[in-house]
Amino acid sequence: MPESPPPHARGLCASDALGDGGDAVPFALRYQGQALRAFAVRYQGQAVAYLNRCAHIGMEMDWQANRFFDADGQWLLCATHGAAYHPHTGLCVAGPCVGARLVPVPLLEHHGQLYWLPEPPFSTLELST
Ligand code: FES
Repeated sequence: MPESPPPHARGLCASDALGDGGDAVPFALRYQGQALRAFAVRYQGQAVAYLNRCAHIGMEMDWQANRFFDADGQWLLCATHGAAYHPHTGLCVAGPCVGARLVPVPLLEHHGQLYWLPEPPFSTLELST
């Protein structure tokens, strides 16, 4: 684990804000010139983040605000046509885009805090025009 997060790391939330299989913490970023939403969740202890953009036709996925997991907290679901993604890999395992993947966003967990890393192809909204 590094001594401290790199200077460009962006604070996201306290680690305990992400319950295993629970609600997501949303955030916004720029990806390939587009302002988009992203989300962070925790699964089996590991925090992960993805663009909130289904691999099927690019819709936002949450079926209720910040709710991506199924009722059992095992799969990330898209509300539009039911794609199911593995939380650790972002791989679609059921639905209309099997084999496609969500776009992962780099996260860092350090001393009880979560950070996302605005590294290419991602950037912060405020640094881009
Ligand atoms: S837009 Fe997500 S399954 Fe179709």
